[in-house]
Amino acid sequence: MSAPGYDRLAGCYRLLETLAFGRALERARFRHFDHLHNRKRILLLGDGDGRGLALALRIAPHAQIDSLDSSAGMLTRASRRLSPEELTRVTFLHADAFAASYPAETYDAVTTLFFLDCFSGEQVERLIERLRPALTKDALWLHADFALPPAGWARLRARVWLTIMFWFFRWQTGRPATQALPPAETLFESAGFVPLAHASWQHGFLVSTLFRQSSLSLNK
Ligand SMILES: C[S@@+](CC[C@H](N)C(=O)[O-])C[C@H]1O[C@@H](n2cnc3c(N)ncnc32)[C@H](O)[C@@H]1O
Repeated sequence: MSAPGYDRLAGCYRLLETLAFGRALERARFRHFDHLHNRKRILLLGDGDGRGLALALRIAPHAQIDSLDSSAGMLTRASRRLSPEELTRVTFLHADAFAASYPAETYDAVTTLFFLDCFSGEQVERLIERLRPALTKDALWLHADFALPPAGWARLRARVWLTIMFWFFRWQTGRPATQALPPAETLFESAGFVPLAHASWQHGFLVSTLFRQSSLSLNK
């Protein structure tokens, strides 16, 4: 398995992000990271270049962390950020999130940071269902992503940005030609996750939500 597009982008991903959005994505990405503090086993899905990993290691000093990404280039870049001691607490999983097998009732936190926008609503629904058996009953799920503001110029501006980004990622990574964001937050709630905290920026274009696995949803 390889992800040549993301491998190619790994080295300049942060620069491109900063040129386009300044520090805005960083704010959304890390808004709820403090809640990782007491977590013991964390899964970072579509972890990218390791900025989230490095911070999670600092905030959750006793956690073992699985960093999963389909791009070897991203994982290599992530591993270079870490000290030898930090590396002992990390397992890098070079895998497709949809094909990976996840150990049962293991993770007490999962992050999807600017990751689920790569997929359709149907795929996101499938991924949440796939992950659910791997979560502990009080698991947290930190989600940050782009969203479409409800109306007005903010929605128009978001559409322009999304068109540019979808075009760019289709060109660079071969992602499918969808122009639509998945309704990820709605899908989490439909799957029984409870939003504990929510923040948004740029009139709703960037969102960050902390979800908790509801014990009721385990019985579904
Ligand atoms: C837009 S980047 C976001 C990276 C990081 N989470 C962040 O906040 O910067 C999407 C990441 O998901 C990875 N990815 C895309 N499709 C994937 C899949 N099916 N399974 C695992 N990782 C995937 C890419 O290699 C890339 O690192």
